[in-house]
Formats: sequence, structure tokens, C-alpha cells
Amino acid sequence: MADTDDLKETHDYHLDIPQRAQPFPLKGCDSLDWGMKNRLSRIFAPTTGRTVMLAVDHGYFMGPTTGLERIDVTINPLLPYADTLMCTRGVLRALTPATFTKGVSLRASGGPSILKELSDERIAVDIEDALRLNVAAMAVQVFVGGEFETQSIHNLTRLVDQGLRYGLPVLGVTAVGKDLARDAKYMRLATRICAELGATFVKTYYVDKGFESVTAACPVPIVIAGGKKQPEADALTMAYNAIQQGAAGVDMGRNIFQSDAPAAMIQAVGKVVHDGFSPREAFAFYQDLKQDIKTAR
Ligand code: 5RP
Repeated sequence: MADTDDLKETHDYHLDIPQRAQPFPLKGCDSLDWGMKNRLSRIFAPTTGRTVMLAVDHGYFMGPTTGLERIDVTINPLLPYADTLMCTRGVLRALTPATFTKGVSLRASGGPSILKELSDERIAVDIEDALRLNVAAMAVQVFVGGEFETQSIHNLTRLVDQGLRYGLPVLGVTAVGKDLARDAKYMRLATRICAELGATFVKTYYVDKGFESVTAACPVPIVIAGGKKQPEADALTMAYNAIQQGAAGVDMGRNIFQSDAPAAMIQAVGKVVHDGFSPREAFAFYQDLKQDIKTAR
């Protein structure tokens, strides 16, 4: 029976306080629907508007990449330090604990292996399955200037249409073909095309000259890929420069999981992305943590 005896009769409607909507912290995302914003908040930390995405989807065209031979052994221990995991549905179902409640950015395009023309991708996941997996975004490769440029852009726009229908963000991943210059001019072109055609956020590579023009010309958030493994100090410097020049985070793989101390490295990257550590501070933090981890073994 409903307990009505003690029902309070006084109400406070706070008539002196106008209802206010909080601005959404991500650039270009304010007019998105609630579900879309909620999913983005599982990728970008609401406190900083930035993200450390841990990219481990390389196997979708490269097979068992160095450092990813046993994702259960090498990657799962890093999950507490990532804001988001970027992976395939195979890895998600087979190896990722379902107790991982942060955002997942699901690899949603694929087809060719490293033995073939990489730009010849198709959509590789049905949106129904992405929703069943409760992911926070779908990621699709876009090969601007590549042999199958139009097809890869069509993959993006199809996923964007489906994503808008169900409130699922789409990450446009700019893939630079072997014969293309990795410079600001190319990155501006590729990232802007992704954003214009509806990508909710865009992943690209950092370039030393003019990266701030890439982030300025892209109306939605940009995250940078780590690229090939470099010395930890250099990778931390790259992350720092990208953030200073307008990136909203990193989507980093090899520079974390191929590091001498992956757990220390991902935490050092987090310090740069979320806490404003300088490259020098972050590298010192990495070295200290690496030593502590070694000692604790
Ligand atoms: C594959 C990808 C990877 O997720 C991306 O390359 C990030 O990894 P890394 O930091 O190792 O470059 O999008 O195409």
C-alpha cells in the first residue's frame, strides 16, 4: 500500500532560479541529441573534455601486431588507465571483460589485409550489433586521395546516417596512403571532409608544422593517432604539442603497448592530456612509475 501518511505538503519550485542548460564541453557537438552526447561523455572525460583512447584494433588488417599477440595478457591490465578502448568486435567479445564500463570505440570498417589495397574497405559491422555491444562510437577509415576514396567516404556517410538514427557517434579515421604527403595541407583536407560529411569526431596524425590550422579548420573534435613507435619522451612531446594545438586527445596504440612499460606510459600520456603535464614532467613521471612497477615485481 502506498505510504501517504507522512507526505510532505510544502514544495519549493525555486522560482528565483531560471532553468539553465549546461553547455556541452565538446566543440561542434552542442546540437547533438542526448544519447549521442551521453555516449561521447563515455569517450571524452566530462571534467576535461579530453580523452586517452587506447587503440588496439590493428589486428583487423595487420593480424597479431607486436604487443597485441595476447590482448588478455598485455592490454586488459591497461584498461583502468584508458578513457576509451578502440577495438574490433572480435576482441571485445572474446577478450574484453564486460565489467569494462567506459566507452568503446568499435572498429566498424574493414576488408583488405596488409597484403592488399588497404583503401578497399567496406562497412564491417551492422549498427544493430554495435548497439547490442553497447559501444560509445563506431570508427571508420577514410582514405582521402586513396584508390577507393569515394567508397571509403560512402562507408563513413552510411555509418553517420545509421548513427544519427540511433544516437551512436561516428569516428572518422583519416588513413594516409603510402604515396601521400603527411603534412598539414593533407590533414586539413582529410579531417575537414570527414567533419563536413558528418563524422562526430575525427582521428588524424600529428604534423610538426601547422597542426593548429588542422584543428582550427575542423569543426568537430580531433584526436591524434600515435603512429609508429618512437622513444617515450618523443611520443609524450607529440601528445603535448597536439593538445596545445587544439587536439581533444589521443587515440594511441603502438606508443603505449609497445613501450618498455605500457602501464607507466599510458598513465604518463593521461597526465599530458588531462593534467597539463609538460613533456619533461610527463617523462619523469613515466620513468618513476616504470621503476616502481619493476621494483614491485
Ligand atoms: C588503424 C587505426 C589504429 O587504431 C591507429 O593507427 C592507432 O594506433 P597507433 O597509435 O598505433 O597508430 O586506426 O588504422
